[in-house]
Order: sequence, then structure tokens, then C-alpha cells
Amino acid sequence: MDKSASDAAAGLAEEPVIASKTPFRAELLEGYRYAFCACGLSNYQPFCDGSHTSSKAGIKPIIWTQDKDQTVLLCGCKHSAKMPICDQSHRKL
Ligand code: FES
Repeated sequence: MDKSASDAAAGLAEEPVIASKTPFRAELLEGYRYAFCACGLSNYQPFCDGSHTSSKAGIKPIIWTQDKDQTVLLCGCKHSAKMPICDQSHRKL
């Protein structure tokens, strides 16, 4: 059994790819639906472009409808504990 197969068998998730070691500033608009890239593979950071489907990690985007106009720092390293918002985890990588 190769490593990825044994990890899958053990239920271990693969790590997301670090897209950026700094967060992405984004102006989010009330009523818009967003899909945040959680896998790090998107070429349209910080948002999902469907590239996660080519990953074996099984990581899916975080999707939500924005409830108010808001400027936020979205996680670029994909390791935030407050996804999709940056919690400064990139400083520990
Ligand atoms: S491309 Fe990363 S979650 Fe969709």
C-alpha cells in the first residue's frame, strides 16, 4: 500500500497547499455568495476555481452568503483555525 492509500485508510487528511504566506484583503458584498478556496490549489485566490477536484486531499471550498458589506483578511496559508478568516497562523509556518 502506498503512503496516500495508507493515509486514506487511516483517515488522515492531507494538508492543504499554502497559496500565500500573507492573507488576501477582500471587500465582500452583502447578499453575494462566495466560495473560499480551502485547498490552496486555485489560480483565482482566495476563491475557489474548481481545482480541488484534482486533489486527492478531499478538501472542499467554504461556501457562504455574505450578510453585510465587509472588508476582511481571508486566509492565504489555508491553516487558519478561523477559516476563511486569517488568524495569523501563517506566522507559524
Ligand atoms: S480550488 Fe481550492 S477549494 Fe476549490
